[in-house]
Amino acid sequence: MDVEKVLCMVGGSSETSYAANSTIPRKALLRIRPMLKEAVTEIYRNLRLEKMTVADLGCSSGPNTLLLLSEVIRIISNQCLKTGQQPPEMQFFLNDLCNNDFNNIFQSLDRLEESLRAEKVTISVPYFVAGLPGSFYGRLFPRQSVQFFHSTFCLQWISQVPQDIGDKRNGKPLNKGNIYIGKTSPPLVGKLYQEQFRSDFSNFLKLRCDELVPCGQMVLSFLGRNKNDILDGEWSIIWGLLAKSLDSMVQEGLVEEENLDTFNLPFYTPSAEEVEAIITLQGLFDIIRFQPFESNLDPFHDLDDDVVHDNVQRGANCSKVIRSVIESMIASHFGSTIVDDLFSRFATHVAKHLLTEKLNFPVLALSLKKKE
Ligand SMILES: C[S@@+](CC[C@H](N)C(=O)[O-])C[C@H]1O[C@@H](n2cnc3c(N)ncnc32)[C@H](O)[C@@H]1O
Repeated sequence: MDVEKVLCMVGGSSETSYAANSTIPRKALLRIRPMLKEAVTEIYRNLRLEKMTVADLGCSSGPNTLLLLSEVIRIISNQCLKTGQQPPEMQFFLNDLCNNDFNNIFQSLDRLEESLRAEKVTISVPYFVAGLPGSFYGRLFPRQSVQFFHSTFCLQWISQVPQDIGDKRNGKPLNKGNIYIGKTSPPLVGKLYQEQFRSDFSNFLKLRCDELVPCGQMVLSFLGRNKNDILDGEWSIIWGLLAKSLDSMVQEGLVEEENLDTFNLPFYTPSAEEVEAIITLQGLFDIIRFQPFESNLDPFHDLDDDVVHDNVQRGANCSKVIRSVIESMIASHFGSTIVDDLFSRFATHVAKHLLTEKLNFPVLALSLKKKE
């Protein structure tokens, strides 16, 4: 699978689009506001800039992209009000893979002005917005040219499915019956995914370190894993339900078994300890904050609510979220004709699962500062 070509959230603003189904990362963005405020304020105060470059890596398309911009502009505006200084000119780069719906973002930019007016941002901050296509696993900027990087819900997407996952053992595919690390995956599958993440994340840190000015900062949040058992993580359960839905289609002759056997996700959710170890070993960044928090696959469900309300509706909610994220990958591998049926089956499996268990997962949120 060529991840850069195939990974793409559903564009536009229809019911199945990512824009209409991105409430979970939005909640995460609101949750990391204090971290964002701390990082941007420190950059503003310490670097005393006339111009400031900010990049959102993996911006996708939808309301969250603009939320980050309005947050940063508001923070800078408030700082200027306090200090009486002229605001810096802000350059925002919105980065994602080439198939991202950049047009949708550009067409909605006037909403940014509206939201700044609605929030009564007092000091007007000059800003410029540019789209930047390309993988964040490669260089995106000239050396030492960026003050602040942000990325929400992206780094769990690795650059490729680990190469050896497609191998056969005794004539059987190594990860038979799974599309990610699952309870029945051999330990080697977990190790291969873990190693791919380690290599990608180390590379990401090195590249961003090259691009950041000294003392530049990053606020990153991405999906993680609470459990120590790599074969039994929260996302192993979620993707396990999708694998079950695909398998039911194989049983009914709607999907080729061979197609299912060759489908594995370019995805990995690390534990907080794994992430911390990689950052520490590399030694390029100081960890300023590391604050994991819980999230839930149903955007309309309250985390603390233990009562199972309408599991069927909740199954449908969760299915819409997952569909908006991986429809393009499914369609590219299995063909677009299976998509409606697959996500309807998935909704049913999720609904059943929710009768006895939750679908919560941790989000790893951290702020990092480039060492001097
Ligand atoms: C779940 S979306 C998150 C979007 C947005 N940040 C938000 O909070 O709603 C993940 C995004 O990361 C992008 N992405 C994944 N891997 C990437 C890579 N290597 N380079 C750039 N973008 C990537 C995907 O295309 C997708 O738009």
